Amino acid sequence: MAVKEKIDGIISSAAAGVEACASVDEINSLKVRYLGKSGELTALLRGMKDYPAEERPAVGKLVNEARDKINALIDEKFAQLQAKQEEEKLLEEKIDVTLKGTATPRGSLHPCTLVKEEILSIFTSLGFSVAHGPEVETDFYNFRQLNIPKDHPARDMQDTFYLGNDILLRTHTSPVQAHVMEENKPPIRVVCPGKVYRPDDDATHSPMFQQIEGLVIDENITLCDLKGILECFAKELFDKNTKVRFRPSYFPFTEPSVEVDLSCSVCHGKGCRICKGTGWIEVLGAGVVNPRVLEMSNIDSEKYSGFAFGMGIERIAMIKYGIPDMRILFENDVRFLRAFK
Ligand code: PHE
Repeated sequence: MAVKEKIDGIISSAAAGVEACASVDEINSLKVRYLGKSGELTALLRGMKDYPAEERPAVGKLVNEARDKINALIDEKFAQLQAKQEEEKLLEEKIDVTLKGTATPRGSLHPCTLVKEEILSIFTSLGFSVAHGPEVETDFYNFRQLNIPKDHPARDMQDTFYLGNDILLRTHTSPVQAHVMEENKPPIRVVCPGKVYRPDDDATHSPMFQQIEGLVIDENITLCDLKGILECFAKELFDKNTKVRFRPSYFPFTEPSVEVDLSCSVCHGKGCRICKGTGWIEVLGAGVVNPRVLEMSNIDSEKYSGFAFGMGIERIAMIKYGIPDMRILFENDVRFLRAFK
């Protein structure tokens, strides 16, 4: 049958074509050529009407078998070529893990944050909890509730940014004491960190700085408890030989009031630049809570007593890291900040 030879011819030329293909693109166009709408096999099917009716099934069968055969050859070659192409691509795109990468610079915590966290962790390990209060305060909490009445000369102790008649930026963290006493019943043991504001600006003062306030209220709390806690704190923060010294002072909300010095951790009391030759560094204000303050917060001052203290975080960071000028703490010069990694 002439048609059989013709079909065999198509198969063998397709097989040779497949064999010669070297890329996925070539095999794709070969597929179109042999099996597509205008391919020779399709033409044969279209010409079927020219064959005698009894031969048509046989011709159809031959054409279909040929299609299958060619299809199989093409699929096989296609898979081979595709695998080869992928392999080549992988080789080409090989990642050199020895190449230097572009590192993202790692930040570090600000020295004041480090000091604040260390101080808080010392006090929380002593059983204190942490409380926060608003930075925009009322005159009532910042002053009056702390026994600093309006027009009282004690107000001169703290220059103040007023935002309105009775609204101000808090000048210390002591108003948090008042909030805590209002909301809690004794026993109270809290530390209150936060930003405070005063219109001062020089090498050792900044219009914004941070304080940590401490407040303990319970039965039979005395100045001795204050000294014991502060001594324990100072030994943890600096070193175990640190000594604590009280000097008499005045705060309207504590009675008696003290100024607390620590022995200089740099020269151990011999006298150096940091302690200005005195061997002592003033770090906090403190005292026994004035009974009037307790009463104003509805705490029975016959039954309860307490102590409070307040310290500047920047000041402690300066002492701890030997920083001579407070302003560098606010400049955010990365060369300085990097030193605290
Ligand atoms: N609030 C005082 C200040 O900022 C410090 C202080 C706190 C003193 C608690 C005594 C008790 O100067």
